[in-house]
Formats: sequence, C-alpha cells, structure tokens
Amino acid sequence: MKRHVGIEALAIAVPRRYVDIEDLARARGVDPAKYTAGLGAREMAVADPGEDSVSLAATAAARLLRTHQVDPARIGMLVVGTETGVDHSKPVASHVQGLLKLPRTMRVYDTQHACYGGTAGLMAASEWIASGAAAGRSAIVVCSDIARYGLNTAGEPTQGAGAVALLVSEQPDLLALDVGLNGSCSMDVYDFWRPLGRREAVVDGHYSIQCYLDALSGAYRAWRQNALTREVVRWGSTLPGDQLARILYHVPFCKMARKAHTQLRLCDLEDAPNSPAATPEAREELAKSAASYEAQVASSLTLNARIGNVYTASLYLALAGLLHKESAALSGQRIGLLSYGSGCASEFFSGVVGEKAAWRMAQADMEAVLAGRERVSVQEYERIMNLPYDAPEALAPAAGTFRLAEIRDHKRRYVEGAAS
Ligand code: CAA
Repeated sequence: MKRHVGIEALAIAVPRRYVDIEDLARARGVDPAKYTAGLGAREMAVADPGEDSVSLAATAAARLLRTHQVDPARIGMLVVGTETGVDHSKPVASHVQGLLKLPRTMRVYDTQHACYGGTAGLMAASEWIASGAAAGRSAIVVCSDIARYGLNTAGEPTQGAGAVALLVSEQPDLLALDVGLNGSCSMDVYDFWRPLGRREAVVDGHYSIQCYLDALSGAYRAWRQNALTREVVRWGSTLPGDQLARILYHVPFCKMARKAHTQLRLCDLEDAPNSPAATPEAREELAKSAASYEAQVASSLTLNARIGNVYTASLYLALAGLLHKESAALSGQRIGLLSYGSGCASEFFSGVVGEKAAWRMAQADMEAVLAGRERVSVQEYERIMNLPYDAPEALAPAAGTFRLAEIRDHKRRYVEGAAS
C-alpha cells in the first residue's frame, strides 16, 4: 500500500457571466443583507445552455493539463463527478476524453451521488493509486455541475456553476491524503433530489440543512475515531478538531460552512472526556466560537462566495480558495475536509498541505479566471435562465474554453476557443 498519494495540481472553470447577489435581492424585493449576511453570498455564476457540465469539465481539465504541463500518457483514469450530466447513459467523462484527445488506454466513467459524486471519484482514484494497481499512472478527477433551482424559489440565491479538475498522483504537491483515516456516514433521505427529465432540483431546504449536519456528525466522529487510533489527533488541552489547521466544508452557500463548523465543534464538546463545557447550553455557546470559525474556516470561502453552489465542486472550490490564499503558510500542516451529497452521503477526510503548493497555485492563477467574467443584470440572467437547454446561443468560446455548439440527432457538438 502506497501512503504518499493525493492531489498534485488543480484548475477551475467558471461560466463567462455572473450576477451580483445584491442586484438579485433587490429584484426579488428581499433585504440584500439576507443574501449577503444571511447566506454569505456575493456573486452567482450564470451558465447559459452553451456552458453545460461537459464544456465546464473539459475547460477545467484542459486548463489543468496545459497549465501544469501534464503528459496525457501518464493518465490512466478519468473520472467526472457530476449530478447534472447531459445523458442517461453516455458519461460526461467520455465527452471530456474525446474533446481533450486523451489516450484510449484509460478507465473513463462518471460518479454520481448528488454533491458527493466528486469525492467518490477522488477516493476511487486515490485508492486505485494507493493500492498499486495504477502502476505509477495518475488520474484526473473533474467535479462539474450547474446548480439550478429556478427563478423566484427559496433556493434561487444559492445557485451557481463551474468545475474543478484535480490531478491525483503519487506526487501530492497540493495535498497528501491521509489514506485509511476517512470516516463515512450515509442515510436514505429525501432532502434534495432531481426527478428524471427535470432541469431544476426539488429541495426541502431546511430539512436538507439538518440532514447535512446529521451526516457531518457521523462522518466526523468516524474519522476522529480513526485519527485517535492512529494518534493523528488526541484528547488533550485542545479538542481534536482544533488540531486541524483548517477545516473545509461542502458549501451549498457560505453560511452553511459556519453552521457545519459549529456542529463539528459540538461533536467534540459533547464527546470530550473532560469537556470544557459542562451543560448543553454551555456547549452550544462554545461551539459557536467566532474566533474558531475565523481561524479555521473563513479564509477558504472567497471563491464560493463569488461563484455560488457548484454541487460536486463546492468542496474543491473551497480547497482552491484556501490554497490560493494560504498555501505557503499551511505547508506541512494537516487540514480536514467534509464532503456532503444529498440523499445522502458524507465523508470526512484529511490531508497534509504539500511544500510545493504555493508554486502550484501560482500557476493555477484563480484571479485571472474570475477576472475574465462579465457581470450581467438580473434581466439578462432571467433571459439566460429561460433559454431552451438544447439550443445554445452561437457565441464564440473564449480562448482555452469549450462551448456546446449544437445538438443534432441527439449528438452534442462542442467547439474550443483557441488557447492564447
Ligand atoms: N439580514 C440578515 N440575515 C437575514 C435576513 C436579513 N434581513 N433575513 C434572513 N436572514 C438570515 C436568516 O436568519 C437565516 O440565517 P440562519 O440560518 O443563520 O438563521 C438566513 O438568512 C436564511 O434565511 P431563511 O432560512 O429564512 O432562508 P430561506 O428559508 O429563504 O432559504 C435555504 C434558505 C433553505 C438555504 C434556501 O436557500 C434553499 O433551499 N437552498 C437550497 C438547499 C440547500 O442549499 N441546502 C443546503 C444543505 S443540502 C446540500 O448541501 C446539498 C446541496 O448542495 C444542495
């Protein structure tokens, strides 16, 4: 079993347009503070029908290969995690393989379990490498989604779109995963789902938050048990969760990360042999610590606040945002990650930030990707949302990005903007 496995590099892709969240609030007659302070949002990515889960995944994966000069011959597995695929049978991953002209000699498939699908792909890839079956080859895992609830719904300000591509290998420059420590928790619940044939998700919003928190508790406690056994953390003068330099959460909206962090702290405070808080009320109060949230969570949310929910990619956007800002300071330190997918499945895992993370992230240049976007009015956002999904506008793709050009005889044709 190889123990040095993880994420070597990453790249992101976002739609070309976004709407300012305060503009949306005003158009809906809502106090903007509800969306900014209440949900933690700033901007929301708006995908048009030419920007589907395939084009976003292909753009992110192409950017990953180009930016980090990856030789396609070293890739033995391509997995796309998505819950907004474009076909009931043909995977998004096979489109990406074709668009990027990747070799035939690889395993290619999609993974699906709502927002957990990308993590399922990451674990399949890293365990394939750790087992030795990869025989030195690497994997690409892409998380790509369009989060869509519809106009004038409670979920509307928590939409978004984008993709994150991860290069997974035995050279984890960004994050060496703690193989074997992961904790999982899953349950059969109807908190969020998308019946066949529907573009918009159906969601029981407040119940979905409770399901997330319940699943988090189970997954974190399972990880903590493994981490205590391996003496990665301990009960001592600080709580086990406090011994992680940062904790990243699945981010359907930024405020959810704060709720999640409170819940994780509550797990530690409830279970500690000598809890610093004796009563349930005192534990609740201590769990809400603003200082702990600011120190361990807040810095990871900058990209999520500017893009919105990206379902499978949300956790990995938080990773990209964190490493973009803090990779030098975090070199050699352990962080925790919580993945959640409705339905539901969750996994808590951990890893150590690599020494070359700052160098890798400088190449990924997140600022440039976001700076290329155009702010649109709420009227224009509504026009885009009402476009038929199968008749994309004839827009030229930006340099280095892919767009759906047309669907003819149920076959999708994509075009690529020449890389500058
Ligand atoms: N100023 C400041 N804050 C305000 C405010 C104001 N004027 N008005 C309201 N708020 C606060 C509220 O107090 C609340 O904060 P707390 O949760 O901390 O109490 C927050 O703003 C939201 O207000 P509401 O709960 O009243 O909002 P809502 O009922 O309209 O909808 C939502 C919120 C349920 C999250 C809804 O946006 C939704 O359904 N979103 C989609 C589902 C979702 O994201 N679920 C998350 C868990 S499931 C998951 O994670 C998988 C996934 O990706 C979908």
